[in-house]
Amino acid sequence: MNKVVNTTSLIFISLFLLIACNKTEENNSATDFKHSAIDATFNGIISIDDVYDYQNEKIPAYITKANGLNNPQNNKKITLGRVLFYDVNLSVDNTVSCGSCHQQQFAFSDTAARSIGVNGQTGRHSMRLINARFSRESRFFWNERAASLEEQTTMPIQDHAEMGYSGQDGNPGIEDLIQKLNGIEYYQELINWAYNDESASTKISEEKLQECLSQFIRSIQSFDSKYDDGRAMVNNNNSPFPNFSQEENQGMMLFSAPPTFGDSGMRIGGGLGCAGCHQAPEFDIDPNTRNNGFVGDLTNPAVLDLDNTRSPTLRDIVNSNGDPNGPMMHTASINSLAAVIGHYNRIIIRPGNNTIDPRLTPQGFPQQLNVTPQERGAIIAFLKTLTGKNLYTAEQWSNPFK
Ligand code: HEC
Ligand code: HEC
Repeated sequence: MNKVVNTTSLIFISLFLLIACNKTEENNSATDFKHSAIDATFNGIISIDDVYDYQNEKIPAYITKANGLNNPQNNKKITLGRVLFYDVNLSVDNTVSCGSCHQQQFAFSDTAARSIGVNGQTGRHSMRLINARFSRESRFFWNERAASLEEQTTMPIQDHAEMGYSGQDGNPGIEDLIQKLNGIEYYQELINWAYNDESASTKISEEKLQECLSQFIRSIQSFDSKYDDGRAMVNNNNSPFPNFSQEENQGMMLFSAPPTFGDSGMRIGGGLGCAGCHQAPEFDIDPNTRNNGFVGDLTNPAVLDLDNTRSPTLRDIVNSNGDPNGPMMHTASINSLAAVIGHYNRIIIRPGNNTIDPRLTPQGFPQQLNVTPQERGAIIAFLKTLTGKNLYTAEQWSNPFK
């Protein structure tokens, strides 16, 4: 009996303390902001009293490049960006969100060659949104038509096929979307909170959509791969890693060393030269790269699509089982790492492709790397070390609407 009473009072005291502590915390932080619609919509998955600390995500010391410095990462804006990214309200018929075509379990890409939007299918394959913040190339899309990530983020919304707010041919435009979002209660609450506006008069605008969406995308990072474990043990990109097998270390050398060419574009030694365009330790694309021989158009095989010179980081190109996270290249025409090596092994220049990168046409000939089966195995083993772990399931990048 006594014991029961003691336990009960203990529970009471703990509860009291809990409530008291919560109160103090509330007084210091979020209290003044209305959050009843946020609480009702997200069931605690998004809570203004408990925000994920995106700003202090660990970035390895060997990663030295970052874009978006004029739009600094902010936990509240990133939280709002997460909601926007997964909200089907961003499409005209409330069926498609950014997350429909950029799926977390596939490294924020899509397994379909062409993704399905509100009015049709995309003309290029969806891109993995991994480590976008750390690319030296600051323009976005396969063909780099967006001058910044900020500019990029509202383009899918205004694309007729993707999300449908094109404002053309009688379709609603981005202003209609902004009005719609400002009429949704959880956005009224989130925007005032994210922009620290206690007078509660801040409204969603195109600029704020861009700020928050791009910050959310920049928060998505993958630095817990086997490669990262090894890179942290050495002090440069070119030493063998103690945690790698001999085969993986050979693959890393093949990836980074340039080939030596004999006559007519034939490799007679050296590596495979991948790092000429995809550089360690981030494996982002060299900003000066031209096309790599993939010049097809997914919507019309007769047409050339010559200007695709950006690649997402090669990190997480495959999942932890070694299977591709989706078909590769803007054409989605490559389905295995062996086929990737096959392409670079013997470059085929399609008639009319006058913008192929000169690194792939040594002495004016299409390169022939003469990769041996043993070398192919090694480079594939290396590419598999670039896959992270946390990314695929981490809650802070997941859909808050379920
Ligand atoms: C219907 C599918 C679809 C939807 C919806 C969609 N995307 Fe995409 N996304 C794509 C495709 C396809 C590409 C590549 C298109 C191209 O390069 O022409 C892409 C490219 C991107 C890129 C460029 C990545 C890089 O490294 O250059 C970013 C960033 C991006 N999307 C963010 C978003 C955001 C933010 C939203 C929501 C506002 C969104 N996407 C909605 C399919 C989609
Ligand atoms: C001359 C520059 C260049 C070189 C050298 C190069 N690449 Fe690429 N790579 C690109 C470009 C540009 C793309 C994007 C192509 C596209 O889809 O239009 C790309 C795309 C890729 C992709 C697909 C990425 C995705 O998200 O779908 C893989 C994988 C890849 N390269 C691996 C390699 C490997 C392995 C090597 C060495 C054998 C290599 N690359 C050498 C420029 C290069």
